[in-house]
Amino acid sequence: MSAKRVGIVGVGNVGATLAFTIAEKNICSSVLLKDIRENIVQAMALDISQAANAAKSNTIVKACLSDEEFKDCDVVVITAGIARKPGMSRDDLLLTNAKIMSQVINSVTTFNPNAIIIIVSNPLDAMVYTALKASNYPRNKIIGMAGILDSARMSHFILEKLGYGAGQIEASVMGGHGDDMVPLPNFSTVAGVPLNEVLKDEDIEDIVNKTKNGGAQIVKLLETGSAYYAPAFATTQMVEAIINDKKEVYPCAIRLEGEYGYEDIVSGVPVMLGKNGIEKVIELTLNDNQKEEFSKSVASVQELVDTLENKFF
Ligand code: 2OP
Repeated sequence: MSAKRVGIVGVGNVGATLAFTIAEKNICSSVLLKDIRENIVQAMALDISQAANAAKSNTIVKACLSDEEFKDCDVVVITAGIARKPGMSRDDLLLTNAKIMSQVINSVTTFNPNAIIIIVSNPLDAMVYTALKASNYPRNKIIGMAGILDSARMSHFILEKLGYGAGQIEASVMGGHGDDMVPLPNFSTVAGVPLNEVLKDEDIEDIVNKTKNGGAQIVKLLETGSAYYAPAFATTQMVEAIINDKKEVYPCAIRLEGEYGYEDIVSGVPVMLGKNGIEKVIELTLNDNQKEEFSKSVASVQELVDTLENKFF
């Protein structure tokens, strides 16, 4: 167990599941929880701490009822914001969640100046942009979760189609966390075997479409919320990579500063994660079709950013 402290703002389904996973893994000294709902955050802290005790984990789980108590974290995950309801796009959440994000970022950066910040709130790419702008931080310190989630969804749909290969599938998705995300079948493998060696083109196309719709499928079935186990686990992997300085490569939402030909816009690309957050950005060689899809995805995020620039900042 390291002496690191992890903070989580927002203990809805994703935040609470994340806190539970991290506490059970015994990978940090403390998990601090914050939420505007004081009873809920205290209940979550008690329940998760009791689970951690059952697991004989050394991690202390604590609810913070003031901004001042939520301090000195090495990593802070922000899940705060309202969630998608059926029929609602991630973009509908834009202005409400931008306001919440700016307020949260102000208090988090004041009391956790050394923290690497992971954003989970939707619409994801626009919230990363908002957090960067509200904090004026360099891009390595604010990272959006989503590429790991979208890639895990693609792995699931590959497994569903193939019927074998569980645990051996590496799927790759780039672009924004929205309907225009860019699944990359030619960078996806089953035990190192390229996808097109084991699946027909129409099956691959079906996997790509299901991946793009993966979040909405769960929202529709749940009726009262959105997915949380996979989003929480994807975030856990990022937290672990950062606190243990693992230098692992994951697709994450970052501000592009010239990579792939884009400036000052957030999108999902493969990066290396370590103690400084984003330590390297990896530029894949995309084919013309993928370049076009990536540009569409960037354009969708740009629309949201333009709305934020006109109506919010
Ligand atoms: C998801 O993809 C709602 O963005 C969330 O599950």
